[in-house]
Amino acid sequence: MQIVILKDAAEVARYGADIFTTQLQRKAGAVLGLATGSTPVALYQELIRRNQAGEVSFKNATTFNLDEYLGLSGEHPQSYRYFMDQQLFDHVDIDKNNTHVPPGDAKNPITACQEYEAKIAAAGGIDIQLLGIGRNGHIGFNEPSSGLTSRTRVKTLTKATIDDNARFFAADEYQPHLSITMGIGTILDARKVVLLATGENKADAVKAMVEGPLTAACPASALQLHRDAVIVIDLAAASKLA
Ligand code: F6R
Repeated sequence: MQIVILKDAAEVARYGADIFTTQLQRKAGAVLGLATGSTPVALYQELIRRNQAGEVSFKNATTFNLDEYLGLSGEHPQSYRYFMDQQLFDHVDIDKNNTHVPPGDAKNPITACQEYEAKIAAAGGIDIQLLGIGRNGHIGFNEPSSGLTSRTRVKTLTKATIDDNARFFAADEYQPHLSITMGIGTILDARKVVLLATGENKADAVKAMVEGPLTAACPASALQLHRDAVIVIDLAAASKLA
């Protein structure tokens, strides 16, 4: 694990954007693994700016998102497909046919998980996987106790994650308790992994990921096994490291 500690969230976003820009410049047909949540938004904004300035192109890129709520179609404003369209895809020169988010409205979610894995393999595997981290150490929707070799599957969300994400849903809006998520094994197959974490509320999870034992109790600790994992954090998220 390479740990990069920067001053604040803006620097973390720029550093992350640099990694993705370099990848796209080296390999126009790069396969990118993407994440949702609050943390990557500033990185996506920076990539949009660079794309519109002609500094980087997504024209030949393929993307695979980590996860999606089960029970929400891509048109639902809380779906991760909708989020990705709004936050990145609609503003860059990517071919939307080459963007993949697990289908939250799949008739047969179990089959859909196997198909998602097959699509990643057919694309040649993921070059760089972007990750955030949950306060309970989850990556994707791989909650604590997830198998460290797990593959894309249907996963229940913990109460902690449901509560953390309640901020995105209106009080009277249905909030799913199930997801489709890439597994930890799927994530570890990416050739490079870049995890971003900012803010003091991530400091405990960051400490467990970096300094704790390798354990399913902290799914992000599985990144200790990856040979090219870069952890990019701000001072606040790093504040509990030894
Ligand atoms: C999102 C995802 C989640 C988030 C995590 C942190 O696709 O896979 O693991 O990365 O919940 O979310 P934020 O960035 O909102 O703190």
